[in-house]
Amino acid sequence: MLQDALGIPHDGIKIGKIFSGGKEIDAYINLDEETLVHHILIIGTTGSGKTTLLKTMLSQNINAIFFDRQGDFVRHLISRGEEFSVIMPSVTMMINDVPSSRASIELGTLFAERYNCSMPVSGDIRDNEIILECDKSIVHLIPYSINFIKVIDYMHKLTPYMSSMARVFWPVIMNNFKKGIDKIAENIALDLSLPKERIESDIYKLLTPSSLIEKDVKVPLQKKVNNRSSPTYYSYVEDYIKIDTSKLFRHIIGNEASTLKQLDKTLSSLNLAPQTQDAIIRVLRSLSEFGIFNVNGTFELDFQRLKKKTVVDLSWILEYTASVEAIAIVAYSILSDFYSYKDKLYKKGNSELTILALDEAHEYFPQTKDEESKSIIEGLLNRLMRLGRVRKISVILATHMPDDLNPLVLQLSNTKIVMRNEENVLEKLGFEDYADILLTAPAGLGVVRSIKFSDVVMKTLKEI
Ligand SMILES: Nc1ncnc2c1ncn2[C@@H]1O[C@H](COP(=O)(O)OP(=O)(O)OP(=O)(O)O)[C@@H](O)[C@H]1O
Ligand SMILES: [Mg+2]
Repeated sequence: MLQDALGIPHDGIKIGKIFSGGKEIDAYINLDEETLVHHILIIGTTGSGKTTLLKTMLSQNINAIFFDRQGDFVRHLISRGEEFSVIMPSVTMMINDVPSSRASIELGTLFAERYNCSMPVSGDIRDNEIILECDKSIVHLIPYSINFIKVIDYMHKLTPYMSSMARVFWPVIMNNFKKGIDKIAENIALDLSLPKERIESDIYKLLTPSSLIEKDVKVPLQKKVNNRSSPTYYSYVEDYIKIDTSKLFRHIIGNEASTLKQLDKTLSSLNLAPQTQDAIIRVLRSLSEFGIFNVNGTFELDFQRLKKKTVVDLSWILEYTASVEAIAIVAYSILSDFYSYKDKLYKKGNSELTILALDEAHEYFPQTKDEESKSIIEGLLNRLMRLGRVRKISVILATHMPDDLNPLVLQLSNTKIVMRNEENVLEKLGFEDYADILLTAPAGLGVVRSIKFSDVVMKTLKEI
């Protein structure tokens, strides 16, 4: 009756019980699909119970992808004995001295050691997954890294941290660079009587940010080839072809028009100012240092094949790069790909609700002064939250620092769950009427304000 009086839906995921007269009463608060696709924001200071609430949601029967920076959600699902997928963004430093044929097993072993799972053997690798037993649960582990060539055209949109100059020139640089590679592949194909497409795809498979600035691409060859004339931007060395990708790149951004013209008459140098060239090289250098692209042993990510519940375990990137930028690039790339996947399903007319949850949301969607970074962050938020709604995406975000969060998040989250907070935060959020409860609320106590029902004080569920 109380649920009905307050307009609380009867179905959906349970988040807590109504709290009244100093105690919780036996009436659940549920978030139904309609409420969920209008997105949820959880705000509370340290220790107020945000992560616990996210775990409670994850314990229920939902399709979900949870982004995890500390392994909290991985451990939670293992402790529940569930069968789930883990996307494990990996970095090259994790497999430094490991032969590429053993790289997948090595990544699986690192995961198994951290979470006390059975040690993987090659038979555990099946269809781009490593199957691990962790306690009583089964983990479908997908070591993952971004394929650089797939994002190269919109690299400037994947990181909110690229300098604005670098960003302006990125598309034209890439256009020229790919034209150059195309021509090189054509020349090699002529030398070797092989299809051009194959050479090109071999080059692209090996291309990383560092191939643009220092390390050239070495395409393995079946048999030795003698250097014919002196080709431009490549040479045959023993059993591989050395493609001078970094030289090509530097000639394009600098002023080496004459060599470029030898390769392709239509290519020219962009003649960028030295500071701009430096800025671009700097970006590529830090991208290359992160080691997050084309990591040996990682698999292609196919959203369709994920289990109902998936955790993106970002703890590895955090540990090895200690960089918020690296985390943002990987998270953005997965989120954009996921949006495209849901968009395709939507156009085919069959999409089920999926919850995307990000704890510490200010780390992914920070408030920034720089207009360009802001537009990148807001572009992604708009897709996930505004356009996501009909595509059955529900975004659930938690933060203890609403001031550090992009303001669009507040605007697009139609349900707010406010837990213990300081007075000025309560005022900003329009929850000052609840100050007597919320200033000193114990963990798990909060107020829910939703488009669908009246404000309600609740105690979150700790176990489900
Ligand atoms: N409903 C609840 N009932 C009882 N204890 C709770 C409840 N919710 C959370 N707690 C406890 O409060 C503590 C802090 O919870 P939690 O880690 O979820 O907070 P948090 O808001 O995520 O904090 P942080 O900002 O530091 O990440 C934990 O020990 C947790 O078990
Ligand atoms: Mg937390």
